[in-house]
Amino acid sequence: MNIKRNISIIGGAGHVGLPLGMVFSSKGFKVTLIDKNKSNIKKINKGQMPFLEKNGQKLLKHIVKKKKIFATDKLNEITKSKYIIICIGTPITKNLNPNTKNFINFFYQLKKLLKKDQIVIIRSSIYPGICEKIYKIIESKCVNLSYCPERIVQGKSISELPKLPQLVSGKNKKALNESGKLFKKICKKIIFTKILEAELIKLFSNAYRYINFSISNQFYMICENQNLDFFKIRNIMRDGYSRNANIPMSGFSAGPCLLKDTMQLSSFYNHKFLLGHSAMFINENLPKFIVSKLQKKYNLKRKTIGVLGLTFKPETDDIRDSLSIKLIQLLKSKKIKTLQSDEYYISKENIKKEELIKKSDIIIIAIPHKAYKNLKIKKNKILIDIWSLFNK
Ligand SMILES: NC(=O)c1ccc[n+]([C@@H]2O[C@H](COP(=O)([O-])OP(=O)(O)OC[C@H]3O[C@@H](n4cnc5c(N)ncnc54)[C@H](O)[C@@H]3O)[C@@H](O)[C@H]2O)c1
Repeated sequence: MNIKRNISIIGGAGHVGLPLGMVFSSKGFKVTLIDKNKSNIKKINKGQMPFLEKNGQKLLKHIVKKKKIFATDKLNEITKSKYIIICIGTPITKNLNPNTKNFINFFYQLKKLLKKDQIVIIRSSIYPGICEKIYKIIESKCVNLSYCPERIVQGKSISELPKLPQLVSGKNKKALNESGKLFKKICKKIIFTKILEAELIKLFSNAYRYINFSISNQFYMICENQNLDFFKIRNIMRDGYSRNANIPMSGFSAGPCLLKDTMQLSSFYNHKFLLGHSAMFINENLPKFIVSKLQKKYNLKRKTIGVLGLTFKPETDDIRDSLSIKLIQLLKSKKIKTLQSDEYYISKENIKKEELIKKSDIIIIAIPHKAYKNLKIKKNKILIDIWSLFNK
């Protein structure tokens, strides 16, 4: 068998691994997606996307039909591939420290199957220094280790991968050259860096974004306490004043990456990453801020609160680390009657958005899915629009 154009992706049924595999497959590679999630494996092999991905469904159906991609839970399938790309999760603990145990242990399993000519590429967002540890685990079998972090925005990999520069770092020349050549097939530009540089660039990028969102969320809170409209103020700040052009809108800043990677960075810096911690306090406290403000103004025991949008960001079905869910849990813990609705995330507890609007006294636009833009909300309802969806 010619394994030169074969790629195995571990974590291949996940949000990073699957679209990456699909893009490689569309460029003529034979891709094996290896994952522990049997339910997702089943869906993928039937040509069904297990989660929302822009332009994903059509592409997956096509490549599954052409037998260019297949999913399995058998790790020993890696022996048929030249390239092994690792995209498994890198979570943090409840105490916000990196939980590296499973990630590192995985490489002891992988080592047993590795051959010396294979190229091992780590793509997950990792705690800096982990590549060195992994190298020490696998080096007696294979020394070709690269770190090529993923930098797409979730849900848009297929359109973003060809446009984004790919960072490529590696332990030796072969790892660098081979990984560079591989990613050149799907990306326009390759930027070679040292491993620690790539590890930090990935975490800095997410922390920078997370801190930026927290600035607007802090300004939003200041405005709310003065009964001022942050949306109006933000517009005036930016009007003809280019230095303020990039200030983001306020809103729930959550999901599986930004907070987690900010905390990985903080842990790496002996928990002295003060900006990162402040950003976390601001962003994670926004649900509490909203509930306290409402409690001061209204008797919430007599009100029904409807929460529109449950996912961690608009136009996704992913609720991982969603602040809307945190908001609902907070309301429920205070025994406040709560209704919920979403356009993409399916739950037995959800109701239709129109019904939610009809039955709620207070409506919180927690996540501004596009479908909410044209909703008619009567003037007698109290609307909490942190994203200024209706102002836009
Ligand atoms: N989601 C994003 O947009 C995004 C963007 C850039 C980087 N990342 C990083 O990529 C990594 C993966 O994130 P994700 O969002 O794709 O997570 P995910 O949970 O969607 O996917 C991870 C997959 O790995 C599988 N898995 C875990 N352990 C395994 C094992 N031992 N063997 C086989 N399969 C295993 C899981 O079943 C899951 O399907 C994380 O480090 C994350 O921070 C994510």
